Amino acid sequence: MLSDLQLRNFRCFESLGVELSPGFNFFIGRNGQGKTSILEAACVLLRLQSQRSSTLLPVVRFGEKSFAVSGHRASHLLDFRYSPLRRKVAFDHVEQRTLDEYLRIARVVSFANTDIELVRGGSETRRRYLDFLAAQIDPQYRPTLRAYERALRSRNALLKSPHPRPRELAAYDPPLLEHGAKLSEMRARLVARLAPVASAAYGEISGNAEILQLEFAPGHGGDFARELTESKPQELRLRQTVVGPHRDDIQMLVAAKAANQYASEGQQRTVVLALKIAQSRIFMTEEGTTPLLLIDDIFGELDPMRRNSLLQHLPPEAQKLVTATSMRWRENIGDGPVWELKDRALVRR
Ligand SMILES: Nc1ncnc2c1ncn2[C@@H]1O[C@H](COP(=O)(O)OP(=O)(O)O)[C@@H](O)[C@H]1O
Ligand SMILES: [Mg+2]
Repeated sequence: MLSDLQLRNFRCFESLGVELSPGFNFFIGRNGQGKTSILEAACVLLRLQSQRSSTLLPVVRFGEKSFAVSGHRASHLLDFRYSPLRRKVAFDHVEQRTLDEYLRIARVVSFANTDIELVRGGSETRRRYLDFLAAQIDPQYRPTLRAYERALRSRNALLKSPHPRPRELAAYDPPLLEHGAKLSEMRARLVARLAPVASAAYGEISGNAEILQLEFAPGHGGDFARELTESKPQELRLRQTVVGPHRDDIQMLVAAKAANQYASEGQQRTVVLALKIAQSRIFMTEEGTTPLLLIDDIFGELDPMRRNSLLQHLPPEAQKLVTATSMRWRENIGDGPVWELKDRALVRR
């Protein structure tokens, strides 16, 4: 478990420290007090990425140049310092040159009220969910994703230039194809692994009311190289790369119908919980590690039935950081310290 957390110039906090317990830890406070930022700090410390933002730049406190976050996990000291020009990752005071070992230490699952976007929003949200999960399972995933994104950025920059020449463009194809094929394959395998676990979780939460099916929907039809060549006229017209993993998606069906168009709000929320519970289970059963659970603003918002069923399906041994604006719903949740956030400071209740 994570036994403490120290932040410096992190979001709205100049400096903050908190001791954490195993099991539940509750953080309450009005909107804008910094509850999500505390959960984000735990995520950034353990995974070197944020659950809510795709870059770390917005995490640096306004007017500052860098942030630092540190904490102890299984009596080891983790320490991460970030500035746009430099990142420093240290394990027991030893600066890490590669991140593999550091990232092997912990897994994180984040539940937030914005997760409904996973069903209702654009495909980018679903790719981010996959990326966040995959990077925690396969050390090769993040480097592959970064390499693909780099290749895509250069290629799109060329397509946006005044007169992109076909021969120049072709020089950008090989890296895009190489990293893209690898990335799609990793994502396809992950969705295949996830689908039965998510369906089972959906069945348990909904009392088998209907069936959830997940299927990987690749951003190219199968022959990436051929489709890339065929799409060139369209690319030159639209000035961007139109096929490839940056268009990957997950198709979600509830009772054989597209969940974003036909599922009720309750069903959509159940899909989201099933996806997150599936993520925890993959870490537990297939990776053998208990994840840290970040539960942001959702216990208070769920109806008692879904709240209870979520509670029943969360791994009981996992450490949990839970935020809410009030604690009215807490009675049958479980014990754990309650911290109140007020004026950027934490007070134990
Ligand atoms: N980089 C930043 N520097 C300073 N303040 C920030 C930064 N990013 C966000 N904030 C502010 O931090 C406050 C707390 O945000 P958040 O953690 O989301 O609060 P909560 O979850 O309690 O509603 C917000 O008022 C927001 O404007
Ligand atoms: Mg919040």
